Amino acid sequence: MDKKEIKKLYSSKVNLLKKYNESYFDKNKSIVSDKEYDEIKKEVLDLEKNFSYLVSKYSPSQSVGFKPSKNFKKSLHKIPMLSLGNAFSEEDLINFEKKIQNYLSLRNDFKISYSAEPKIDGISASLTFKNGKFHKGLSRGDGKEGEDITENLKTIKDIPKQISHKDFPKEIEIRGEVFIQNSDFKSLNEKFANPRNAASGSLRQKNPEETKKIPLKFIAYTFGYESGLKINNQSDFLKKLSEWGFKTNPLNKLATGIKNLMENYNEIEKKRTNIDFDIDGIVYKVNDFAMQRRLGNVANAPRWAIAHKFSSNKAVSKILDIEIQIGRTGALTPVAKIKPINIGGVIVSNATLHNEDEINRKDIRVGDTAVIERAGDVIPHILSVDKQKRSKNSKKFIFPKNCPSCGSETIKEFNNVTKKVDAVRRCSSEGYYCDKVSIEKLKHFVSKEAFNIDGFGKKIVENFWKLKFIKFPQDIFNLDFSKIENLDGWGKLSVQNLKYSIYQKKTISLERFIYSLGIRHIGLENAKLLSKHFISFSEFKKLSKQNDYEEMFNIDGIGETQVNSIKNFFSNETNKQVLNELEKALLIKDAIQNSEDGILKNMTFLVTGKLNGISRAEVKSLIEENSGKTISSVSKKLNFLIIGEKPTKKKVDYAKELKIKVIDQVEFLKMLNKTS
Ligand code: IVH
Repeated sequence: MDKKEIKKLYSSKVNLLKKYNESYFDKNKSIVSDKEYDEIKKEVLDLEKNFSYLVSKYSPSQSVGFKPSKNFKKSLHKIPMLSLGNAFSEEDLINFEKKIQNYLSLRNDFKISYSAEPKIDGISASLTFKNGKFHKGLSRGDGKEGEDITENLKTIKDIPKQISHKDFPKEIEIRGEVFIQNSDFKSLNEKFANPRNAASGSLRQKNPEETKKIPLKFIAYTFGYESGLKINNQSDFLKKLSEWGFKTNPLNKLATGIKNLMENYNEIEKKRTNIDFDIDGIVYKVNDFAMQRRLGNVANAPRWAIAHKFSSNKAVSKILDIEIQIGRTGALTPVAKIKPINIGGVIVSNATLHNEDEINRKDIRVGDTAVIERAGDVIPHILSVDKQKRSKNSKKFIFPKNCPSCGSETIKEFNNVTKKVDAVRRCSSEGYYCDKVSIEKLKHFVSKEAFNIDGFGKKIVENFWKLKFIKFPQDIFNLDFSKIENLDGWGKLSVQNLKYSIYQKKTISLERFIYSLGIRHIGLENAKLLSKHFISFSEFKKLSKQNDYEEMFNIDGIGETQVNSIKNFFSNETNKQVLNELEKALLIKDAIQNSEDGILKNMTFLVTGKLNGISRAEVKSLIEENSGKTISSVSKKLNFLIIGEKPTKKKVDYAKELKIKVIDQVEFLKMLNKTS
């Protein structure tokens, strides 16, 4: 058989599996015996083993074996299910602790207790109990809204259905991980690539009777909404969970100090292969709930917890080519196309090379034999290349001096803040001039955290772009649906759905809107800060007319880099046009202001000097939560100057001269009815 025939044979087998899977997962019907299914699966895997050029995303060697069912009702989480930031080294942990100490203004020798919990690699679920009765179970979904999988969850023995303990809260969302033990997974003659997929697949198929056949387990570790929980820290909560009848992780520990966290981490990593479920790291949570509350969240992860991931998997393969990808900010990212290789259960065929400097530093070339590392969910990257295995004809990789998409010159910028030349080379064209940049901007615009238009993903952006249906973001809201209806793969119903999802997203919050513009250095967190500051789109848009950007320096968290980037954005005529057009097409909602009638209504504050046991960031949050405002200098507009240790004398003197009230931290906290 020649290559073509082998490919044909392979794809016919893969397609068969795809068909069987769809029927099994979406229609709950087995149209083939288990034996026959396994034989085809084995043939596919053998073919892949013998012919490394064979790959398919529907292959059983790839993680996804099926499409998630669309049949579940969606339901909002009362409290969002957050994700966690990652740490990979001791240094990352030291930084994590430092940030907490700074935020809470703790002394360096203050011992923070952490609940250290092995991170099970399963599927998280949120179980609502009302008056002791298991009422509703949701998958994580996008964190805000999950799928109602109550009936499937009810089949899991580890989940108590009725809890009659007196101290069990009246209402509580118990959250934890659904998973399958490795030993159970092995004895399952099933159609899944790994235990995580088996758990996810069986939880999210339609028929609870099918779920019941899979020995799923549940370990509880946190809670969402609650009313009536009388517990002050995580370790007590974990104890309570087991008193109430939930399973908790037997390897959970309470620890203080990074040294001890590292010791525990190393110990568990060693034990990892002997544990009967997959863990991919350790989660550390600040044990004290009051501290957790004070720390709060950044974007979609808490400040008080982090996931310390186990070391990565590595493999050796060959670099077949080096491609240059262009991002929405014009950054040129080199990507190594490698001979597909299995790293820790995932077939890897791309590895990032980061930037030009990285290629030069490691002297990475096409044809090289390289060590590729895949750590957690991070994109695989090249660790090193073996220069001894290099052929004599190998040539140094020359990074393009012109953008491969639009031909504009590529430049490395000088960063005024760090006083260094950027490592990243960029296309110097103005945003929408470069096709690749434009497409990436559009992908960002429709992405999950931005407009999140259902059914309008990256593939559709590319497709519609090629067909010249869209070039600028506003085009999405002025599509000619009759043209789409005639396209291959589209029909009346799917066009109607698309029309509806676009229509639905015409109303958007100011913060999401700002984020969706894809302004460099304006991620979710900064977009939120800007939206809080400008409140309305019309105020934000004024930036296109004014030359004075100074005002933005008053926003805590916004610095020179961000201000320059915004200036740059508004100096571009196309961007201004896009804003005008979007304004016509959309309803951009004003930012929700913190309760307008808080205790500090109409009062302005400024802090000078070091406070005790509380950071400035926290004071600022407290002021804003209570409808007050912070300003950045002493002026007639200021009502209160809060002074700490070693205040700036000039500020205090000037405040006194203006007859502004000068108070200390205790007096400030008293204003909020809090004692220090
Ligand atoms: S706490 C805000 N505790 O890790 C706190 N999560 O990236 C977030 N996970 O989706 C959850 N073991 O599926 C927490 N002991 C543990 C966990 C754990 C596993 C998973 C969970 C979540 C993901 C966070």
